[in-house]
Amino acid sequence: MDKLVIKGQNRLKGEVIISGAKNAAVAIIPAAIMADDVCIIENLPYIEDVKCLFATLNKLGAKCEYIDKHTLRIDSRNLENVSVTFEEVRKMRASYYLLGALLARFKSAEVAMPGGCNFGTRPIDLHLSGFASLGAEVEMKGEVVKVSAQSLKGASIYMDTVSVGATINIMLAASMAEGVTTIENAAREPHVVDAANFLNMMGANIKGAGTDVIRITGVEKLHGAQYTIIPDQIEAGTYMIAAAVTKGDVVVKNIIPTHMDSLSAKLLEIGVGVEEGDDYIRVFYDDKEYKGVNVRTMAYPGFPTDMQPQMAVLLSVCKGKSVITENVWDKRYQYTDELKRLGAKINVEGRMAIIEGVESLTGTDVDATDLRAGAAMILAGLCARGETVVGEVKYIDRGYEEVENKFGLLGADIKRVSM
Ligand code: UD1
Repeated sequence: MDKLVIKGQNRLKGEVIISGAKNAAVAIIPAAIMADDVCIIENLPYIEDVKCLFATLNKLGAKCEYIDKHTLRIDSRNLENVSVTFEEVRKMRASYYLLGALLARFKSAEVAMPGGCNFGTRPIDLHLSGFASLGAEVEMKGEVVKVSAQSLKGASIYMDTVSVGATINIMLAASMAEGVTTIENAAREPHVVDAANFLNMMGANIKGAGTDVIRITGVEKLHGAQYTIIPDQIEAGTYMIAAAVTKGDVVVKNIIPTHMDSLSAKLLEIGVGVEEGDDYIRVFYDDKEYKGVNVRTMAYPGFPTDMQPQMAVLLSVCKGKSVITENVWDKRYQYTDELKRLGAKINVEGRMAIIEGVESLTGTDVDATDLRAGAAMILAGLCARGETVVGEVKYIDRGYEEVENKFGLLGADIKRVSM
């Protein structure tokens, strides 16, 4: 079992190159199998979730190979199997995109319910009711979801909760349905747009991705395409907060700065220096005392829930009181118990976490309770006095490429040990 051992309080300095977006990759790789053809996907992050999908596609009968560490060639011409077992996908939640992709191409799919991070109820009812609106029959067989249809027909779908996964999944299925589908109250996250751009390159007809109404005119067939995934907004944000919390000076490169607007605004409000370029953001200590702020997580373009644990670390060492309101997930404060072990003062009351800033954190042994909680533990270790040992690194490896190397290059004292 791997652990990360961090000796804190080094000010991070230098440049970090951000990898391709995990949440776009886990949608776009399944989308590639909708073509009876070859797709090449570039700028993929080299992370466990992608490796898991790589293995799953090969088991389904696609020929999936790494051209290099960040590029996959996916040949789905011989893919026939539409059944994905629990063993294949137990570690990752986004396996649900295989439902939409297989349903689109084969009008049939059987996929075991997803695993992944555990922060509260993670239903897929909106995905399934969307498929049903397109004319699919949905059946639950124990842990397995089965969807099938004679043919899929376009429909008007209103989503009563803004869901990234349901928006993309319905987009996948509707791309190969007869007629027009409209998704109202659609999610607007950058990876929704990225998935739509990829599908359009494959010959789909999707308009409005990035707004809350998406209109999809179904096509009979999709063809192969070569596509480059967008940079990872959450990885970028994690390094931005790392720079802030260590009072360092870091240029976070290969990103789309507008994707970071909600975070940049909060950092400025706290008193952190932020400078934007075309494809980078520099985050630096501006000789100002950091002061607490209030943060409310919301769907894009609001403050991302996936940055909430990392932000809590920074707020833990800001002067005064901060209040976080988590509006997306109902159990996303599990990590606060770990953070308190490092000396943070956090009181969780329902959806709110009330944080009283302290002078500094003190290193100890903590666990990553999920992917982003794990990122938060690294950030806490980087700013804490003494040594922090982060366990359950497997969660972090799901979504961060070479995390110890990237932080190491910025001057962090961090190493991976097998225990
Ligand atoms: C995606 C991200 C995840 C992020 C989340 C919110 C991926 C692979 N994962 O997850 O990192 O935290 O967006 O930004 O992209 N909901 C329902 N019914 C459904 C689906 C969702 O009620 O069928 C609710 C959820 O309980 C949650 C909210 O909708 O409260 C948002 O979930 P959703 O956007 O679907 O999250 P994911 O796509 O699973």
